[in-house]
Amino acid sequence: MPDIRRLTVALPKEGPMPKAGQFYMLRAWAANESPVLSRPISVHDVDTVEGTLTFLYQIKGEGTQKLARLAWGQTLTLTGPCGNGFDVAGAAAAGRVAVVGGGIGTAPLLLLCKELAAAGCKPDLMVGFRDQPYGMDAFEPYCNSIAIATDSGAAGHHGLVTDLLDPKQYDLVLTCGPTVMMRGVAKLCAAAGTPCKASLEHKMACGLGACLGCTCHTKVGPKTVCKDGPVFDAGEVFE
Ligand code: FES
Repeated sequence: MPDIRRLTVALPKEGPMPKAGQFYMLRAWAANESPVLSRPISVHDVDTVEGTLTFLYQIKGEGTQKLARLAWGQTLTLTGPCGNGFDVAGAAAAGRVAVVGGGIGTAPLLLLCKELAAAGCKPDLMVGFRDQPYGMDAFEPYCNSIAIATDSGAAGHHGLVTDLLDPKQYDLVLTCGPTVMMRGVAKLCAAAGTPCKASLEHKMACGLGACLGCTCHTKVGPKTVCKDGPVFDAGEVFE
């Protein structure tokens, strides 16, 4: 896709292994260069055999444009893994799991499905895109089923991804995507009494819980998306 890029780096040999739902702060420009802030990008895949860490991101602004123009010999700085990620062991123990994603929000879901499958719980995946889907082949080995919805009708169901979800069929729903989509998923889950976890996106500065720049309001008070999240109980963050 013209605005989607995949970036693969050597898996750092030291420090904790990244988990599904965690992210790194990426920077490919000097501290005194614009933009001031590093870019939070979620982990798309980890390959411990090849020793690689992969990010899938959308070119949205100056920072991601600079990442997309990375050239041989330039330095890329990664800080992470940040955030709490998904509780995969808890999800696998829950029973039937649906994973619902939208657009570039599908990026962290590949590692999530991979970890769920490794834990013996292949999820049903439902994904929505504006037009052409991307990256779906990689999901196939790790999912029980894959259903696609597109706004344009270019592939799969012509309509919203939430049209594909019946939360009553599941013990847990995990979601990442546009806020309006996650709000819809959370609403369906609340009505069905099915637990739902949502991975939020937010502009970030430090990525470490220090600056409070990514504070979001939850039913139990303010929380930082970078450190307390990005994965939250959907009922906590969506009305
Ligand atoms: Fe600084 Fe989250 S980005 S607290």
